[in-house]
Amino acid sequence: MNNIVLIGFMGSGKSSIGRALAKQKNMYFIDTDALIESFEGQKIRDMFEQKGEAYFRECEKNCFAWLSANVSNAVISTGGGMPTVIDDFSKLGKTIYLKVDFEILLERLKAEEFDKRPLFADVEFARKIFETRESLYTQKADLIMDANAKFEKVLKEVSSKA
Ligand code: S3P
Repeated sequence: MNNIVLIGFMGSGKSSIGRALAKQKNMYFIDTDALIESFEGQKIRDMFEQKGEAYFRECEKNCFAWLSANVSNAVISTGGGMPTVIDDFSKLGKTIYLKVDFEILLERLKAEEFDKRPLFADVEFARKIFETRESLYTQKADLIMDANAKFEKVLKEVSSKA
């Protein structure tokens, strides 16, 4: 399918860059977290608490299958953990990894943002996940973009390559 798929860690800018990129390219923007929340009628934080992470990962697999079968010409921002359950993103579209240093992510994610992301409740735990995820993102991306810079600069670079 002819989509642009953004992968990367929590706070890497997938949603904000994705939304702006979609607007620029006159494409629709889809956020898998928002899609799952609306399908389940529940916030991700509550889903983790009440049904557990494994349940959420199943939702991500179903969401990916549905998108692959039904969606084209969209910019799709994926949850940071989706590459742990999806092997091949190529059937959905061109996959771009927004690569950001952990210290920059910490600066970007304010306290209230931590609250929405259960895996960020403990920063040292998040750092460990970050370290194991990096190779996963790298393996699964068609394109790796340095996304440490300010929003406008990253947007311009992603837009020129997407
Ligand atoms: C997760 C990232 C979150 C969300 C959930 C789990 C992860 O999405 O899917 O809290 O495992 O990295 P964002 O990357 O959009 O914050």
